Amino acid sequence: MASEFVIRDLRFEDFNDLVNAYFSYYEESKSDQNLGITLFRRKPTLKEEVAWFKEMYVQVLDGNSIVQVAEADGAAVGLCSIKRQRPGSELDHTGVLGIAIKKAYRGRGIGRALMESTLKRCKGTFEQVILEVFDSNPRALSLYRKMGFKGYGKMPKAIKRGEDYITLNLMYLRL
Ligand SMILES: CC(C)(COP(=O)(O)OP(=O)(O)OC[C@H]1O[C@@H](n2cnc3c(N)ncnc32)[C@H](O)[C@@H]1OP(=O)(O)O)[C@@H](O)C(=O)NCCC(=O)NCCS
Repeated sequence: MASEFVIRDLRFEDFNDLVNAYFSYYEESKSDQNLGITLFRRKPTLKEEVAWFKEMYVQVLDGNSIVQVAEADGAAVGLCSIKRQRPGSELDHTGVLGIAIKKAYRGRGIGRALMESTLKRCKGTFEQVILEVFDSNPRALSLYRKMGFKGYGKMPKAIKRGEDYITLNLMYLRL
């Protein structure tokens, strides 16, 4: 597996790779109760994924989302999106960040590079960025702190996974 990767803007052709990546998190969650991504209780259908991708793509075209992907081995293996909070409302100066990298590509600097690049692109679009991260996700917490995110609270029992509850850390970054 190549260790090279590129960070670039989302393309319409990324659909298949991004759905593969997203579905891989459902597989991963079967053996990793601590996977730091909030999942739907039922794996989405391909039709639902089409709707998700279309919505994200339209938000990009409307200037309401900044989305970048990490490409490695000829495929999009990671996604970082920063989506405007309720466009047209008094919340719309804030972007909400989400990021995930396919398991085989983690821990080699891709997440950091993807996040740095996407945050750079946000200047002038958002004044601040917020995110939520599981208490049980030290890798993501460490990355976010290094990017300058500060904690502003915790939501106990925010996630219910099987019989277990997970606390969410709430973080913000002023751009
Ligand atoms: C969280 C995630 C996006 C980070 O991306 P990544 O490519 O694995 O991270 P990087 O290799 O760029 O490392 C970023 C930082 O994480 C930390 N880190 C990396 N591996 C780590 C590990 N095994 N344990 C703890 N911290 C670790 C390091 O502080 C690193 O900073 P450095 O560059 O100074 O060494 C990625 O692991 C992921 O997608 N995880 C599953 C989904 C998820 O948790 N998403 C976040 C939801 S809030």
